[in-house]
Amino acid sequence: MAESMKGMKRTHRCGEVTKAEIGQTVTLMGWVQKNRNKGGIIFVDLRDRSGIMQLIFENDTIDEEGFEKAGRLRSEYVIAITGKVEARSGAVNTNIATGEIEIRVSYLRVLSESETPPFPIEENAKTKEEIRLKYRYLDLRRPDLQRNLILRSQVAMLTRQFMAQEGFLEIETPMLQKSTPEGARDYLVPSRVHPGNFYALPQSPQLFKQLLMCAGYDRYIQLARCFRDEDLRADRQPEFTQIDMELAFVDVDDVIDVNERLLAYLFKEVMGIEVSLPIQRMPWQEAMDRFGSDKPDLRFGMELTDVSENVKDCEFVVFKGALENGGSVRGINAKGQGAMPRKKIDKLVEFAKGYGAKGLAYIALQEDGTVKSSFAKFMTEDQMQSLIGAMKGEAGDLLLFAADRNKIVWNVLGALRLELADQMGLLDKKEYRFVWITEFPLLEWSDEENRFMAMHHPFTMPMEEDWDKIDTDPGSVRAKAYDIVLNGTEIGGGSVRIHQDDIQEKMFEVLGFTKERAWDQFGFLLSAFKYGVPPHAGLAYGLDRLVMLMTQEDSIRDVIAFPKIKDASCLMTEAPTTVDEKQLEELSLSIRQPEKSEKAEEM
Ligand code: AMO
Ligand code: AMP
Repeated sequence: MAESMKGMKRTHRCGEVTKAEIGQTVTLMGWVQKNRNKGGIIFVDLRDRSGIMQLIFENDTIDEEGFEKAGRLRSEYVIAITGKVEARSGAVNTNIATGEIEIRVSYLRVLSESETPPFPIEENAKTKEEIRLKYRYLDLRRPDLQRNLILRSQVAMLTRQFMAQEGFLEIETPMLQKSTPEGARDYLVPSRVHPGNFYALPQSPQLFKQLLMCAGYDRYIQLARCFRDEDLRADRQPEFTQIDMELAFVDVDDVIDVNERLLAYLFKEVMGIEVSLPIQRMPWQEAMDRFGSDKPDLRFGMELTDVSENVKDCEFVVFKGALENGGSVRGINAKGQGAMPRKKIDKLVEFAKGYGAKGLAYIALQEDGTVKSSFAKFMTEDQMQSLIGAMKGEAGDLLLFAADRNKIVWNVLGALRLELADQMGLLDKKEYRFVWITEFPLLEWSDEENRFMAMHHPFTMPMEEDWDKIDTDPGSVRAKAYDIVLNGTEIGGGSVRIHQDDIQEKMFEVLGFTKERAWDQFGFLLSAFKYGVPPHAGLAYGLDRLVMLMTQEDSIRDVIAFPKIKDASCLMTEAPTTVDEKQLEELSLSIRQPEKSEKAEEM
């Protein structure tokens, strides 16, 4: 029994009716949240994306047919009602915005019925995520997800508005691009017209936005869909959205300036939070030394201390070995955790091993002044005191040390610091700490490829003061690159780009590109640069990550309408799927090892 709207016209959303409307007649449409039938009187909670309104059906204010229909309403039926706004006759519900009013219904139409949904549509439902994602259209009815997507829409709208005022133009760049295998793995799209040829979906609009600068559109913005075939995590999706921008005739400070004002505007408008400007800046080296991470969470301290000097003469082979191999020994002080049981410390050791540590050494300073330690026997009393002093250790503290190559030590202690902060309840999601990380290394050595790789991308400008070291010590050259980090998450990153031929050529040389290969892959850009290229720079935010932090969610899946799971599949549509033989033929493709899709069985 599905009726039409037949001339009924919605006057308000449920949550938009207020006490000011008492006495007025309104027409609402939405989903039945629940139905309480008390005999002569029926209460129905009606829900739409704005909130919930209590409806009241009584024999003397609605005809018999309408009253009967009301009695049959079940959860998730879609209905339209007309009725009068009244002050609540029963108890006022202070939990909802419309808790002081109700609507006495005089007319009801059932627009569609619903089967019993596989899970209740309510806030904070504890339903397993797989079920929620399979029935995402139902999941998306839940108020928490609706709030997230509404906030996301606001962020996108306000960003466009702000950037337009700043003179940015919104320009679209192609989705079907040329594959340029630097960075993450591409998603490829086969060409029908050119058998054996492929497009790639964009990992970012990087090269096109640089071309737009060459073309004179000196401030560009796009809310751009990006695709990266990489391992997924809580803050990574195979397709995601960037707030992508590029500016001509600018340097680092100009990009930072407009972006700080954008962030402050968004946080003020969307959340009523004042971001105090300027946002702190921290060179990459300092971030690594103090926090073991290029995306430090500054909501708490527990900074790393380099104790290599304090332990260099001790007999502990683990420390000595690391120092002899050019590494370091560093520690963190988990304040007040000195009484942590051995079992829990062992768990931290296991945790550290997951980040590449060979082990974790500790000193637990007991309240009674005694010391428990995994390596005290290799240390003299003086060495021990010097070490504890360097760590500012006090009775009741737990000192944890990693000894290895710097990269591993940073990685381990950086992760451990976050893990301990979480365990110790030091992370307040309502606190927002921004920091710019600047002066990134230009290059990063890859053991796998046995060559230097661009840390950001091959078009990133080196810092002038380091350029003379490009041949002698390429690893020490810093870049004009910057990331914006919020509460330990990299929400955006960018750089000043190279616009001089000679620097770009040198850069390709250091990256191991032959001239031919550079031209083959990036010829269109290099060619454009021959015809008058302005100095330019840009940045891109991960919109999903930004919104995840603003909504205080732990996963970007909760701020994306239709996300994918860890194996990059969609539980609702079951994509990816096999395709017809005919489609493959059209594309001149054949599948080498037909893999049977087991997804259907898993479900
Ligand atoms: P980058 O690769 O740092 O820079 O990406 C910019 C921002 O995009 C977000 N991001 C992601 N979000 C969700 N899922 C993913 N898989 C994912 N990968 C990246 C991050 C990141 O900070 N073209 C350059 C920007 C520039 O130089 O202007 C670029 O894409 O928040
Ligand atoms: P082992 O010599 O492997 O028995 O380790 C002795 C102690 O040193 C144990 O507590 C280990 O967890 C710790 N340890 C081992 N390797 C390291 C390392 N690279 N950094 C810090 N501590 C370590």
